[in-house]
Amino acid sequence: RKNLVVAIDGYSSCGKSTLAKALAKKLGFIYIDSGAMYRAVTLYFIRNQISCADELAVADALQHIELNFHARDYESHITLNGEEVSEEIRQMPVSENVSEVSAQKLVRREMVRQQQRMGKSKNIVMDGRDIGTTVFPDAQIKFFMTADPKVRAERRFRELQSKGDTTTSLENVFENIAHRDYADTTRTESPLVRADDAIILDNTKITPQEQLNFALDKVKAAI
Ligand code: C5P
Repeated sequence: RKNLVVAIDGYSSCGKSTLAKALAKKLGFIYIDSGAMYRAVTLYFIRNQISCADELAVADALQHIELNFHARDYESHITLNGEEVSEEIRQMPVSENVSEVSAQKLVRREMVRQQQRMGKSKNIVMDGRDIGTTVFPDAQIKFFMTADPKVRAERRFRELQSKGDTTTSLENVFENIAHRDYADTTRTESPLVRADDAIILDNTKITPQEQLNFALDKVKAAI
């Protein structure tokens, strides 16, 4: 491929998007948050009471979902059928249902198709669970991120609190992360697994700036 693809995969809430945004900004690449796409589909399913068990309903729903990213300051602003849903997709109802929705074959097929189209000709940084394995197996640079689940829960908890969420406890967040790790690694459709050629980045004890420096060095070495 002529354009450059940086694939960042890893567990839930371990700083993938923080690194991906910083890296994209530094390199002047487009940032694509694939998790936001699965979250927006989940929001649509919740609002329209689509059951994952009903394949026909799932297929029909996918035809009525249009997702778009609006690149602003390297944040991932996503719209669902024209409506800005970036805030709502981070809230617990979506987090609690996204594993089930993202495990559906039809959902994955459609999201992967759209992701591949977005990365066809432009330089991109995309983060998710299956970017280096399924979406862009030929990405030039792949990272696999991980961190201690307790540290991840604390970080996500503080983030929710800073956004004014006073009802979600640290235990809720920890359980949701543990549940998503389990669901993402054990599902049959593109489970979360490290690509053989992905560079491991454990950020339990390092700062975002240190992660960025580490990743920039690796990207420069690869191109
Ligand atoms: O990255 P984020 O935590 O926002 O992703 C939400 C959920 O979407 C994950 O828990 C996972 O189930 C799903 N996902 C996925 N494949 C991706 C990105 C996200 O299955 N490439």
